This record gives sequence, C-alpha cells and structure tokens, in this order.
Amino acid sequence: MANFKIAVMEGDGIGPEIVAEGLKVLEEIALKFNHTFEYEKVYVGGCAIDKFGEPLPQSEVDKILKCDALFFGAVGGPKWDNLPQEKKPETGLLGIRKALGAFANLRPAKVFDELIDASTLKPEVIKGIDILVVRELTGGIYFGKPKGIFEENGEKKGLNTMVYYEYEVRRIVKLAFELAMQRRKKLTSVDKANVLDVSQFWRDIVNDVAKDYPDVEYNHILVDNAAMQLVRDPKQFDVIVTGNIFGDILSDEASMLTGSIGMLASASVGGDVGMFEPIHGSAPDIVGLGIANPIAQIESAAMMLKYGFKLDKEAEAIENAIDLVLKMGYRTPDIMSEGKKKVNTIQMGDLIAKAIGDVI
Ligand code: IPM
Ligand code: MG
Repeated sequence: MANFKIAVMEGDGIGPEIVAEGLKVLEEIALKFNHTFEYEKVYVGGCAIDKFGEPLPQSEVDKILKCDALFFGAVGGPKWDNLPQEKKPETGLLGIRKALGAFANLRPAKVFDELIDASTLKPEVIKGIDILVVRELTGGIYFGKPKGIFEENGEKKGLNTMVYYEYEVRRIVKLAFELAMQRRKKLTSVDKANVLDVSQFWRDIVNDVAKDYPDVEYNHILVDNAAMQLVRDPKQFDVIVTGNIFGDILSDEASMLTGSIGMLASASVGGDVGMFEPIHGSAPDIVGLGIANPIAQIESAAMMLKYGFKLDKEAEAIENAIDLVLKMGYRTPDIMSEGKKKVNTIQMGDLIAKAIGDVI
C-alpha cells in the first residue's frame, strides 16, 4: 500500500481527452492494488499561455516539484505557432525538463504482435523488435550557448551550439549501460564523430564508461548510418544511447517501425521528479472527435509506475491489460484494420481499465 502525489498536466489538443483515460486506468490500479494516488492539476505549454500568459509559470514548476511525478499529456498547436520562440508552448516543455533535471529520456519502441500489419515495414523485419532509445534530454544543441539570431557586418546569422560537459555524457551513458544490463546487454552509442568534436568527446567517454560493464557488448555508429540501420535491420538494436537532437530524430524513426506513434510512451528521469508522457504530440486535427488513441498515455502511466514509483507489478498489469484488449480485437481508428472492432477514446480507456482485473 503506497501513497503518491501526481502532478497532472493535461495540456493542449487531445491532451485532456487522453489524460482522462490514463487517470481512469491509474484509479483502477489504485483500487486493485490498494494504493492511493493524489492528483494536482498543473499547466504547461499552450494552456499555460492562455491561463497565465507564459508557457511555464514558476508557480507551476513549484507545484510539480512538490509531487512525486509529473503525468503529462501534450503541448502545442497552431494557435501558438506564431509566438516568438521564448513564448512558444514547446519552450515550456523544454523548461520543465530542465527544471526537473530530467536528463534521461527513455523511449521504448516495441512491436505489438497484434499490430504488426500497422507498420509500413515488412513483418519479418519488425517482428519482435524491442528497442530502448536513451536520449540525453537537458543538454546538447537544445540548450547550448551562444544561440540566437544576430547581425554581423550587416548580415544576419542564426546560431545554435552543441555543447556537452563530461558529467552530462557520463551520467547518461552510465544509465544506458545499467539499462542494457537489465535487458539483452547490447548497447549502441550514436554520434557524428567523423565530423563533430563534441561527438568524438562523447565517444571517448563511452569507451571509458564501458570498462565498468564488461558484460555489455557495445558499439559506436554514426547517426546517418543509424538512421539507415533502423529501417534496414532494426532487430540488431537493444539499447541506443545518444545526444539530445540525434535522439529526438531517431526516436521518431524508431517509433514508426512499430507503425503506431499513438501507442508509445516515454519517461524523462534522472532528477527528483520524473515526467511521463506519450511520444506523440497534441494532434490538433482530431481534437474533440473522441477518436484519439489513449494507449500511449496509458503506457505512460505504466512507465510512471515502473520508473517513477518502482511499482513493477502494477506497471506490468497495465501492459498486460493493453495486450489483452488488443488481442480481443478492439482498435481506435488510427490502428484499425479489417475484421477488428472499432472503439473511441473513452471506450478504449474503459476496456483497458476493466481488463486490469482480468490480468492480475
Ligand atoms: C519530443 C518533441 C520535442 C523535442 C519538441 C516538441 C520540443 O519533438 O519530445 O521529441 O524536440 O524534444
Ligand atoms: Mg521529437
């Protein structure tokens, strides 16, 4: 019996619709396993701009830091696209990652056997893939300085800088090796060491950290090659560790191997408070239609239980409940195929919540 306080950030677009389903499933877990979850509503991104005039008010950061985890929907939408960079919803997202010290972003890409036909790749290429992308989240070119748009000798220039401090590389690489130890003991570090000094620096640190993990088989590959290998033969990968921007790009690519960006969750951890969110965005085009797939949000709840609260059994119950509902043939429109039963967002949430009782 445990008691956790969860900051709940519904956010923009379909965020509120899918977060509601995530909470429904969490409540079912609380009931069945005798835990109590307390919720505090917070605002980050577009909804915070509308309410407070800025994407990440300090009041919200303070509230989140007093909780045990942040359960996060999605931010952004066309309404805020034309704001200056520092006022955009996305700036709120980057700010909260930094404020939480969440330097490690874990993005699993796993193929659900039931959905193998949803991928654009051949079934034999993707069957059984189980990749964990470990993306550095609070450094690199996203945060490096100098940055901005400047004028120089009457000519304008735009500038960002890729910076990594040794401690930043060491801690993410160490975590990735630890995760590899709990999995298939394979690790691939992705960089651009043939061109970038910061990548050569990263690579040298990986080689050094690797000495502490003789059981893990590891290699380095260049990011362009990684992009190619991910579609050519994704089964070669177990844990992939990489910097912020390469991880951003490769995790989208890895997610599409599974054919269903609406199914995948992520955990941002490393600080005192972890943040758990779907990897997809706010999908403004389908807001209010009741057709959004809540599974990624529900998977985020499972990741919160596992990585945030160390409630492994409970996390597994959610994962098994999702599997069961898919096996029973229920599908939201984004993953619909012939002969399956089409359901809406709320029905999918109800089905998964109910299935918890059947899998424990
Ligand atoms: C992600 C997103 C964000 C990122 C954007 C919305 C700022 O693409 O979480 O991958 O680039 O980190
Ligand atoms: Mg991204």
